[in-house]
Amino acid sequence: MNDNRKNSVCHVCAGVVREFADFGSQPLSDAFVLPGDPAGDFRFRLAVGVCESCTMVQLMSEVPRDRMFHHDYPYLSSGSRFMREHFAALAARLRRDELTGPAPFVVEIGCNDGVMLEWFAAEGVHHLGVEPSGGVAQRAAAKGVQVRNTFFDEPTAVEVLAEHGPADVVFAANTLCHIPYIGSILRGVAALLSPGGIFVFEDPYFADIVERNSFDQIYDEHFFFFTVRSVQYMALMHGLELVDVERLTVHGGELRYTLARKGTRAVAPAVAELAAEEELSGLTSPATLTRFASNVAQIRTDLVELLRSLRAEGKSVVGYGATAKSATVLNFCGIGPDLVPFICDTSVTKQGRVTPGSHIPVRPPAAFSDPYPDYAVLFAWNHADEILAKEIGFRESGGRWIRYVPDVHIV
Ligand code: SAM
Ligand code: TMP
Ligand code: ZN
Repeated sequence: MNDNRKNSVCHVCAGVVREFADFGSQPLSDAFVLPGDPAGDFRFRLAVGVCESCTMVQLMSEVPRDRMFHHDYPYLSSGSRFMREHFAALAARLRRDELTGPAPFVVEIGCNDGVMLEWFAAEGVHHLGVEPSGGVAQRAAAKGVQVRNTFFDEPTAVEVLAEHGPADVVFAANTLCHIPYIGSILRGVAALLSPGGIFVFEDPYFADIVERNSFDQIYDEHFFFFTVRSVQYMALMHGLELVDVERLTVHGGELRYTLARKGTRAVAPAVAELAAEEELSGLTSPATLTRFASNVAQIRTDLVELLRSLRAEGKSVVGYGATAKSATVLNFCGIGPDLVPFICDTSVTKQGRVTPGSHIPVRPPAAFSDPYPDYAVLFAWNHADEILAKEIGFRESGGRWIRYVPDVHIV
């Protein structure tokens, strides 16, 4: 971490954002390119700060959206069985509790390959996904999902309203935190929602990031790191109110936020309870943020030392899960193919390519057992339950997993 801290302007309230951690020059986290392709060369300074006024934690600089979300955006939401089940369960709940009128309408911002909306398509519920990345949008359309291949923002919301009428539910998973122009999004949602409608979104929870030292949640696409307090503030700026929060275990710890027009719904006790916890723990206080930055520096030292000593001992090491998150770890720690010769991943969109900046080849999961390595770094640690169960043979053959959150350890 450097002590040459900088300030920027808050994307929520225009207050002063004070930097608390710097990850240096980083590539785009999803720039999986063919070996030698210069398209992967783009770099930016990855640093994160906190707004002194509204407490929103956010990146210090913004990557233009078209560089990240385009036709070849490689992330496929349906790659995890667990996440498919997660979204199917939520779709059924929204159908039962919220989409109860004669002609309900649900909009999803960032529907990706249709992992959630395919459920509504199968049920014949009026729905629309707004998804700028063409390749994944085509995958959704192929499942019978109605998709608009564009960025959601205020002008898009106004068009959707004119064409389809008001939405009873607007939903976004792992997408709202990706969008620096969040004022335009919230104005759009406020315009699009029916009078009694709700905006539900789920994103990584900053309290979980601090508790787990999961600094790899910080990368180009994750612009905001929400808390109850900062979301409450942001909602009120747009005539909306945070009426419920629900902790989720997916993706290493998330919150599901429910917003409604101010005064239209009772506020669940969970909102005040979690806000009080944040206050008590000093979640965005200078002491907490300084401790987080120093824990992260320790993880870097320990992980590099471990990988170097395993190499010196002649042990084989591979990576598991070419996550966007792994870009921050690999580039911040300076880990390349000399320490991790390849990473296995289920996404066909990443296989045969190399990881951004660190140029580690990505191979299909079959390469993992051919033969099993001595050690595997679990970059997709947020899918640990699913992966450890499915790869039980690795552990049985004597293989060991290397984890690096909340600290570097071998299991
Ligand atoms: N909702 C899925 C999930 O939870 O698995 C996809 C999450 S993916 C990490 C983020 C998605 O947001 C990408 O498919 C990206 O193209 C989309 N996205 C980014 N900016 C957007 C915007 N302004 N409007 C709609 N979608 C956007
Ligand atoms: P995510 O952490 O952003 O969800 O990305 C998870 C990555 O890990 C994605 O590229 C798919 C990959 N993956 C596997 O290779 N095997 C698995 O079993 C799971 C669940 C994910
Ligand atoms: Zn602010």
